[in-house]
Amino acid sequence: MTEPDEITTASQRLADGGVVAFPTETVYGLGADATNAEAVARVFELKGRPAKNPLIVHVTGEEMARTCVSAWPEAASKAAEAFWPGPLTLVLPKSERIPSIVTGGGATVGIRVPDHDATIALIEQFGKPIVGPSANPSGYVSPTDATHVRPHFDADAVFVLDGGPCRAGIESTVLDLTGDLPRILRRGILGTEDLVPVLGPVEIADGSPETDEPAVSPGVLGPHYRPSTPVVLLEDVSVLSRMVSEAEGAVALLSPPGRRVRIGSPHLGIDMPGLASGYARKLYAALREADAASVSQIIIVFPLLKDSEIWDAIRERLRRAAERDPGSDTGTDA
Ligand code: TXA
Ligand code: MG
Repeated sequence: MTEPDEITTASQRLADGGVVAFPTETVYGLGADATNAEAVARVFELKGRPAKNPLIVHVTGEEMARTCVSAWPEAASKAAEAFWPGPLTLVLPKSERIPSIVTGGGATVGIRVPDHDATIALIEQFGKPIVGPSANPSGYVSPTDATHVRPHFDADAVFVLDGGPCRAGIESTVLDLTGDLPRILRRGILGTEDLVPVLGPVEIADGSPETDEPAVSPGVLGPHYRPSTPVVLLEDVSVLSRMVSEAEGAVALLSPPGRRVRIGSPHLGIDMPGLASGYARKLYAALREADAASVSQIIIVFPLLKDSEIWDAIRERLRRAAERDPGSDTGTDA
């Protein structure tokens, strides 16, 4: 449990222009005063984040959200009412209150209300919106527990508000509300099945850097969510024993029920859950555990094709964890 005095300490750090890692239902965020350009610059620096990649602003509710934007369409009211607090980030035209460093120089800002009591209490006490990229070095696996955050940053530089493990485990769905139709820029726990009944038709940006499509989130391009150890995604388990025998030394193997693979020492076997929600919750902790073990490869036996949007969101992250080519310079996030 988060103690009230920890929230006071965290709030004080924010007021001093400092940086605080905070819990949410998705992943931990790296927070600073969203209205203080210098404090926000520290967040970019600590993460090694490209300046062009915008940060999400976290607020307590619609009222505070409205101070961060210059337009609040009806779709925003509907989405906020249905999904906030929750794993949905709304992209809207930014207001003067938000310095351009937050938005990577762009005219829009991503905003959400995290579903975590300690962080809502923190933002309430602080009284202002806070930025919150995932609390990991840019490009690395997102943190879903306070113990994941601490090793990345100096204790003096980042105060970690421990709110326990994150319930959802993958990042929020990013929804652009600045175009004709709402458009998903990053998949997450909430998909079209959730959004369409509330908002009507919703588009999905494919995130491919090859298209000329505007308004793709910079952070969804190129490799990301990536352990230091090479990741291989395996659809065809018949090649597994050959891969393991040809690997240099030990491997880590993540396998789901139905395609469970038992593997002994010196290898590391990690059992992944069969439900998408459970899989999402465990994914980043499993990648971190595998990365911390002395293995030459992380092999992920993907669950048999499942028709669910959370699986789509998981697949997207696994694909990017397995990418090795750095791609464009906007291609590291977040
Ligand atoms: O669940 C989450 O969203 C977590 C927690 C801490 O709230 N935060 C998070 O932030 O995942 P980050 O910075 O790791 O990822 C933010 C993503 C990036 O892909 C970024 O490019 C995109 O959102 N984004 C942020 N503002 C945007 C904007 N104005 N327009 C388009 N994309 C935006
Ligand atoms: Mg991130």
